[in-house]
Amino acid sequence: MSALTRYSLKDVAPKDGKNGADTWIVIHDMVYDVTRYKAEHPGGPELIDEYAGQDATIPFDDFGHSSEAIRMLKDYLIGELIQEDKRGNRKKKGSDTVKDKKKRIRSNMP
Ligand code: HEM
Repeated sequence: MSALTRYSLKDVAPKDGKNGADTWIVIHDMVYDVTRYKAEHPGGPELIDEYAGQDATIPFDDFGHSSEAIRMLKDYLIGELIQEDKRGNRKKKGSDTVKDKKKRIRSNMP
């Protein structure tokens, strides 16, 4: 088996389905090209368009897709996120360091 192509979230972002761009989405750190699938999606193309170029892990899981839907994903797999962009390694909102906080407090001082 050959290694998967690695993409960053920056590579995925322009694949937002707009102005003739392809439609890529990220689910559990894997990158999918769903340009061809979109129109067939039982949940409608709009839902996929809403997450085009972005991470759709949470909405995908929240809906509770069937195991058949999860199996289908592999047909559209084109790559994997680079290590630093994987969910576990992304900087979370509000998780800034003490240094960041101090800087913010200082910049708000008169
Ligand atoms: C490549 C990605 C996706 C695939 C392959 C996929 C596949 C499917 C499949 C096969 C179904 C039929 C029900 C089932 O088998 O679970 C379905 C339904 C649905 N999907 Fe997705 N889906 C994808 C992405 C998404 C995303 C990003 C959302 C965002 C919220 C979403 C929301 C829904 C909803 C709401 C339905 C229910 C439609 C209905 O029954 O009225 N799906 N999807």
